[in-house]
Amino acid sequence: MNNITIAIDGFSSTGKSTVAKQIAKHLGYIYVDSGAMYRAITLYAMQHDFIDENHFDIEALVAKLAEINISFLFNEKLGFAEVYLNSVNVEKQIRTLEVSSFVSQIATIPEVRYQLVKQQQKMGKDKGVVMDGRDIGTVVFPYAELKIFMTASAETRAQRRFDELINRGDNVSYKDVLHNVQERDYIDSHREDSPLVKADDAVEIDNSNLSLEEQFNKVLDLVNMTLKDSE
Ligand code: DC
Repeated sequence: MNNITIAIDGFSSTGKSTVAKQIAKHLGYIYVDSGAMYRAITLYAMQHDFIDENHFDIEALVAKLAEINISFLFNEKLGFAEVYLNSVNVEKQIRTLEVSSFVSQIATIPEVRYQLVKQQQKMGKDKGVVMDGRDIGTVVFPYAELKIFMTASAETRAQRRFDELINRGDNVSYKDVLHNVQERDYIDSHREDSPLVKADDAVEIDNSNLSLEEQFNKVLDLVNMTLKDSE
């Protein structure tokens, strides 16, 4: 059977990574969380005081891009690959609300996007990959055999992210999480370089009222149809 490329795009907290991981595991494909790469660069920018509530030094960050190494290492216990920033495991640190509050600004920088897109294309060059993000079906893999665009209401997504953060022990309010979700939706879909848009040939799935199992089965049906077509 031919290996294919599966691109899953959509707004933040639409459950893209959950279904992408499930599908990759089912098919024995590589899973790449492209948002984690933007988050790792954001963490680097925060650690070096290039960004905070009051200032954002784009030039200083761009000058350091060549020194930022982002890699993924599969964690057998967890069953997915964790993100490393210059050889340090930052998987937990990149998921905080603070990183979320800056990441969309970092993702507007064309030099950052150029570097990460190149790396993402390299990771998927042999196909057999499931990648989720905002521009995977439009920019990174415009020829992906299967493109999915996930949506859900902002309130549903904020509640999911809120539950996730509370479960891991973060002290956050639902109001702040909803604000962050709405703000990122706006920035991600209005930026000049590679804004979040549904690719013309993407299949849209609104999962507001779908269980995880229903969502998985829906995507799996699409995968199986695509695999059949590519034979
Ligand atoms: O998927 P996520 O919420 O972890 O992504 C974090 C941010 O990174 C998101 O708000 C926009 C940006 N991003 C992007 O611009 N392009 C991608 N392919 C993936 C993420």
